[in-house]
Amino acid sequence: MKTIRRARGALSIVLATAAVLVVAQGTHRNEPIQPLPDQATDVDAAKVKLGARLFADKRFSADNTVSCQSCHLPEHGGADPRRHSVSAFGKVRELNSPTILNVRYNTSGLNWTGRTRDLDAQIAGSIGNADTMAHDWGKVMQILAADPQVVAEFKAAYGGDDAVSQKNAMHAIVSFEKSLVTPSRFDDWLKGDDRALTAQEQRGYDRFKAYGCVGCHNGINVGGNGFMKLGIAGDYFAEREKMGRGAAVELDKGRLLVTKKPEDLHVFRVPSLRNVALTAPYFHDGAVPTLDEAIQLMGRFQLGREIPAGDRQDIAAFLQSLTGKQYEQWAASPASARALGGFGLPPAGGR
Ligand code: HEC
Ligand code: HEC
Repeated sequence: MKTIRRARGALSIVLATAAVLVVAQGTHRNEPIQPLPDQATDVDAAKVKLGARLFADKRFSADNTVSCQSCHLPEHGGADPRRHSVSAFGKVRELNSPTILNVRYNTSGLNWTGRTRDLDAQIAGSIGNADTMAHDWGKVMQILAADPQVVAEFKAAYGGDDAVSQKNAMHAIVSFEKSLVTPSRFDDWLKGDDRALTAQEQRGYDRFKAYGCVGCHNGINVGGNGFMKLGIAGDYFAEREKMGRGAAVELDKGRLLVTKKPEDLHVFRVPSLRNVALTAPYFHDGAVPTLDEAIQLMGRFQLGREIPAGDRQDIAAFLQSLTGKQYEQWAASPASARALGGFGLPPAGGR
C-alpha cells in the first residue's frame, strides 16, 4: 500500500507521512478510498485565523454585498444552498457553488471543469472576476490597509511594517482553505475501527462499490481526481428539461469550454463526495434537490441502472458517514457551533 501511495506522487509530503504512519500501525484497510489526516499540519494558526476573517469580509466585492463565505457557507458544508450562485451586483451564474472543504485534495484542478490549476491561482483570479467579486486587488488592499483592526491582524500573522500586502492576503486565505480538513467516521473505519460505522453504512459502502460508483468517486477525496462525462448512459440534459428544471445553457458544455475539444462536451470534474449530505442541491447546475435523487440519477445516467429505493437509502447512509466529525458535533450541540463561529474547524495545533 505504501508503495502504491508513494507512486501516485500527487500527494503532499504531509500526506505521505500520514500514510506511512497509518501503514506503520498495520490497521489500514486496502480500499479504493484513503483516509484523511486528522488535521492540516502545514499551516500556521495565526495565518489561518486571518484567512478565515478575510474569507468572510464583504469588502472583497465591489459593491460590498458578498464575501467568499456568502457562497461557501460553513453550515452548508462549505457550499451554497441556493441553486445558482449570486455574485456582486446580483449577477446570477448558472452554477452551484462546490464545497471548499478538503479542497486541497482535489488533485485534478479546481472548479467544475478543472479550469483553475490550484488554490493560489484561484485566489489570484477571483477578486477581479466579474462572476465573483467584480473588484480589484489593489483597491481591496487600500481599503483593508485603512482598517486598524485588520492591520493589527495582518501584523500578528505576518509581522513587520509591510505585513499588509496582497501576497500575504492571498497566502492567508489559501492557508485557511488548506486548514479545512474534515475527517469522518468513515475515515476511522478505513483506519481499522470496525465500530465506527453502523451496519447500514457498511452495507451502503458495499453497494457503492458493487454498483460501480467507486470507479469514479475514489481516492482520498472520494472524487476530485478526474473528469467524466455527465450522461454516459443517457441524455441528462434532455431529462432535466423534461423535468422543468431548465434547458441546456452554455455552461452545461463543461470541460469543452476549457479544452475546446469536442470529446469534452458535458465532461465535468468528478466531485468529492465528502460532506455531500450537507451540500444540497447537487450537480454543477444545482438542479438536483435531494441526495436520494442524485444517487438515482447517477445510477441512471452514469451506470445505466435503476437503483431500488432500499439500496439508495443504504448508499445515502454511507454518504452521510462521510460528513466530518466536526459537523456531527455541531449537530449534537447547536450552542457549541455558535461558540466555535465560522467554519469552526480546528486549525493546526488544535483549539
Ligand atoms: C457568487 C458566489 C461565490 C463567491 C462570492 C465565491 N465563490 Fe468560490 N465558487 C463559486 C462557484 C459557483 C464555483 C465554481 C465555479 C466554476 O466551476 O466555474 C466556485 C469555486 C471555488 C473554488 C474551487 C473549489 C473546487 O473544489 O473546485 C474555490 C477554492 C473557491 N471557490 C474559493 C472562493 C474564495 C476564496 C472566494 C472569495 C475570494 C470565493 N470562492 C467566492 C461561487 C462563489
Ligand atoms: C462514470 C463516472 C461516475 C460514476 C460511475 C458515478 N458518478 Fe457520481 N458524479 C460523476 C460526475 C462527473 C459528477 C458531476 C456531475 C455534475 O456536476 O453535473 C457526479 C456527481 C455526483 C453527486 C453530486 C455531488 C455534488 O456535489 O453535486 C453525487 C451525490 C454522486 N455523484 C454520487 C454517485 C453515486 C452514489 C454513484 C453510484 C450510484 C455515482 N455517483 C456514480 C461521475 C460519476
